[in-house]
This record gives sequence, structure tokens and C-alpha cells, in this order.
Amino acid sequence: MGKQRVLSGVQPTGNLHLGNYLGAIRNWVEAQSQYDNFFCVVDLHAITVPHNPATLKSDTYKIAALYLACGIDLEYSTIFVQSHVSAHSELTWLLNCITPLNWLERMIQFKEKAIKQGENVSVGLLDYPVLMAADILLYDADKVPVGEDQKQHLELTRDIAVRINDQFGNPEKPVLKLPEPIIRKEGARVMSLTDGTKKMSKSEPSEMSRLNLLDSPEEIQKKIKRCKTDPLKGLEFDNPQRPECNNLLTLYTLLSDKKKEEVALECQDMGWGQFKPLLTETAITALKPIQTKYQQVMQDKGYLESVLREGRQQAEAIANETLARVKKALGYSLPS
Ligand code: TYM
Repeated sequence: MGKQRVLSGVQPTGNLHLGNYLGAIRNWVEAQSQYDNFFCVVDLHAITVPHNPATLKSDTYKIAALYLACGIDLEYSTIFVQSHVSAHSELTWLLNCITPLNWLERMIQFKEKAIKQGENVSVGLLDYPVLMAADILLYDADKVPVGEDQKQHLELTRDIAVRINDQFGNPEKPVLKLPEPIIRKEGARVMSLTDGTKKMSKSEPSEMSRLNLLDSPEEIQKKIKRCKTDPLKGLEFDNPQRPECNNLLTLYTLLSDKKKEEVALECQDMGWGQFKPLLTETAITALKPIQTKYQQVMQDKGYLESVLREGRQQAEAIANETLARVKKALGYSLPS
């Protein structure tokens, strides 16, 4: 039996932060040798909110370079850009026509983002999860490693696949494969540095709320120095009254590669004045190799382009086959 397939992606909007890394990319890297992986830069999703055309291309390359810098290995994984494979848009249209509108209207992320956009909500923002379903279903993905915030979108993806299978397939020969999310417990929901009850997010206006993968040591130091804490001494996990404490200890655990129990013991008598420099050093040390590799990759644009060209070919071969299968099931004549 061949390896199971993994698909996941990140939007090229703003800088990648520790939430994206610990909730998603690091887990892709750790498990990649077990799977046949496809990692895309989802640049079509990036225009569901107002975007800057002058930076879309460079932001897209930056994310692809960060995939490599974080340790995505082309021996196991394919890296490609969503807009380079037109099947993503085409399957989205087909899925749109069988997806009930009220399934989309109840998506939490849509509601949250729509509030931020005010009058300026595009149809694309509402349709965002259908495009995401197309990304996943095109590759017959078995597993989709994501952060906690994507759980509802994964459920929707499965619901859409079931609906297509029920309406256009037969039980022995489903049209689409049902994917499963992989959401790790630790790091699945990294919280803001300025409010431990809010998710760390690219769209939060304050830079102080997140640690970016490409932050300099000085920036890391400044952000951790100023991050929100509480007046208590002795640090502990899982106290609902102390969300910042839990978040910062979790960051330390993941970035230092230590066990939770070990960190609980190490920090149980610490005050913030002792812990903050420790977290700062740990974050700087953990991010340094990624930053060094990123600079190397960005210096060789030709190489990056060749990775994406090859990625496109590999992705397209699979995506086009699935698209043809869906079109056939829906009754389309395929060009000979
Ligand atoms: P994006 O770019 O918003 O997020 C990329 C990944 O980072 C995770 N993430 C977090 N994890 C833990 N804590 C946080 N604070 C945090 N913030 C973000 C997200 O869960 C995600 O895994 N819709 C997707 C992009 C996408 C996609 C796909 C993913 C488009 N098509 C197909 C998987 C499969 C997203 O959230 O992007």
C-alpha cells in the first residue's frame, strides 16, 4: 500500500507567526516522511480580503521560501502555488453549485472576518471555505494538518464531499475521498501576546501581539518584555484564570522541545522576571536556523522558481485527474 496523502496550506497575507508555525508548519515537517505531501501557498484565498497587488507575488514567494526554511523536504513533499493550478478555481465553481448557502453563512471565521470588513465583504470571503474544500478534495487528501481554527472548515469539506458522493456517486465508487484533520493538542491554538484569550493572528493590527518567524532578536526581546502577564508568582499550565501564563509556558515548551511535565517543574517557582529572558533566549535560538535558511533560499530566486515550477507540474497531474472525475460524475462531456 502506498503512503497516505497530506495536503495543507498557508495564506500569503502578512508575516508568518508562531501560531502558523507551531499549529501547522512544524507538524507538517515532523510527519512528512510518513506521507506523500502537498503544501500550497493559497494565494487565491489571500484576495478574499482587500489586498495589495504590488506585494502579492513577493508575499507568495516568501511563504514558499519559509516552507523550505522550516524544513519541508522535497524528497517527501511538493510545494506549489494555488493559483498556478487552475483546477482549484474550476472545482470551486462545481462545489459552489451543490453547497447550500446556509452552510457558509454559519462559518465562524466568515462571521469574524465579515465584522472586521464592515461594508466591504466580498462574495469571495463567504466562499473561502469552498475554495479550501476544493484545495483538499482535488488531491484525494487523507489527512489535513491544521490549527484548531480550521476545524470547522474541515467539517464543511467533509460535508461537501459526502453531498457530492450521495448525489453523484455510488457507495462502491465514491467521487471524492473524505479527508481527516490532524490537529495536535499542543500548539493548536497559540494565543496573542497581548491578550491570552485571543488567538495569535496575522490580521490583528498590533505587531506586539505576535512573534513572527522572521523577527530579529531585538524584536523578539521587545515583544516578550512587553507581553501581557499577571501579578502572580509561580508559573503553571491550564489555570483558566491565567490564560497568558498557559500560553507563554506552552510556547516555551514547544520552542525548547521539552516535555510539558518537565517545564511545569522547571517553572513552578519562577517569577516573570526570570521566565521572560528564558523564553526570549529560547525563541531566538529556535528561530535562528529558520531565518538563516530563509536568507539562503531568498538569495537564489532561480532555485525557488524551479521548485514552484516542478511543484505545479506534480500538483496539476493529480488535480486535473480529480477534476475530470468530478466533471464526469456531474454529467459533463470531457474534451477528447
Ligand atoms: P492561515 O494562513 O490563516 O493559517 C495557516 C495555518 O496556521 C494555523 N494557525 C494557527 N495555529 C495555531 N494557533 C494560531 N494562533 C494559529 N493561527 C493560524 C491555521 O490553523 C492553519 O493551519 N484556511 C487556511 C488556509 C488553507 C488551507 C487549505 C489549509 C487554504 N486551503 C487547505 C489546509 C488545507 C488558513 O487558515 O490559513
